[in-house]
Amino acid sequence: MNISATKRLITLLDEMLAYSKAPAVIVREKRAVAYLNTVLEQVIRHINVPPHFQIRLPDENHEINTSVIALEQIFMNLFTNAIRYNDKAEGLIAVRFNATDTAYHLEVADNGIGIAKQYHEKIFGTNFTLKITDRFNKKGTGIGLSTVKDLLKVLGGSIIYNQPWVWGTTFFINIPR
Ligand SMILES: Nc1ncnc2c1ncn2[C@@H]1O[C@H](COP(=O)(O)OP(=O)(O)OP(=O)(O)O)[C@@H](O)[C@H]1O
Ligand SMILES: [Mg+2]
Repeated sequence: MNISATKRLITLLDEMLAYSKAPAVIVREKRAVAYLNTVLEQVIRHINVPPHFQIRLPDENHEINTSVIALEQIFMNLFTNAIRYNDKAEGLIAVRFNATDTAYHLEVADNGIGIAKQYHEKIFGTNFTLKITDRFNKKGTGIGLSTVKDLLKVLGGSIIYNQPWVWGTTFFINIPR
């Protein structure tokens, strides 16, 4: 890791520590104008995207007014899950964005192993995992999606899991403007 990557990681760790100390207050107070793709590209720089794995972002770099810290945490968790629980030779994540007068709608879809329908609510519980090992043969702790749900709650938003027709996993996120 080079120095600028290390600095970026330290900044992110600082933000995460600040977040863990006073989540609700910091997330609510730190709303700012940002650009979605710029934030997501920053997150992607901090994770190991395996070769032959593609993350497709919206065509336009949409302006959003929200908590960047929360958004980073949310996508860090969703992206790492989508990468870990994926057994395809050509892994894929697609992010779609749509804004209405009152809310931002984000869709995060992947072509991974999918999640059985009966777990659609349970996966957001603290420490809940499907006890399946990931592509690195590791088991998770079940913190990721519950953190995502908590952060969205603080933003007044929500997340739901939807089992797509053919393969993979799709999450729908709603964040009020
Ligand atoms: N995109 C996905 N595709 C398939 N399964 C998933 C996906 N995201 C989450 N899961 C399943 O849901 C479970 C809960 O996810 P969550 O992120 O809360 O915990 P984790 O990944 O196991 O651990 P942690 O995030 O704390 O490292 C996972 O263990 C995995 O079985
Ligand atoms: Mg996880």
